Amino acid sequence: MYRQPSEISIMEASLTVSTHFSAAHRLARPDLDYDTNCGIYGKCARPHGHGHNYHLDVTVRGKIDARTGMVVELGTLHQVLKDVVVEPLDHRFLNKDIPYFAKVVPTAENIAIYIRHRLLEPLQGLGVDLEKVKLYESPNNSCEVYATDSTSPVSSETTVKPKLILV
Ligand code: NI
Repeated sequence: MYRQPSEISIMEASLTVSTHFSAAHRLARPDLDYDTNCGIYGKCARPHGHGHNYHLDVTVRGKIDARTGMVVELGTLHQVLKDVVVEPLDHRFLNKDIPYFAKVVPTAENIAIYIRHRLLEPLQGLGVDLEKVKLYESPNNSCEVYATDSTSPVSSETTVKPKLILV
């Protein structure tokens, strides 16, 4: 059906951009002993960590600008991902380098939640809403979290009260 320009101008769309980073982690709850952690996390609990090449899809939603035909300018969106996610996390040992993960086990789920929290405000600053974060940890597993999912947002790193995910 043909749409008048005025209708086009108020249409919304979801837009997904992708990026990647490499990081190391160790899966172990600090309050549990080594054998118990191995029972939960298997070889991911080995003491010196291991690495992943993480692939990240970030989906935002917003109105299509009638003038540009875009939800948001792609270069600006990529810059936010670089500043907020890639630079802070790339080539890090997450457990030691990111204060939040000192006590929160950096599973793919918890990393995705952390990224979600980091992106919410900067994306609003671009005039779009975060819709979904999808984090691929390996060719065999990925995790999705939605902007509307969490009822207990991650606090800033200086005031964080980690909430461990029960496994
Ligand atoms: Ni791992």
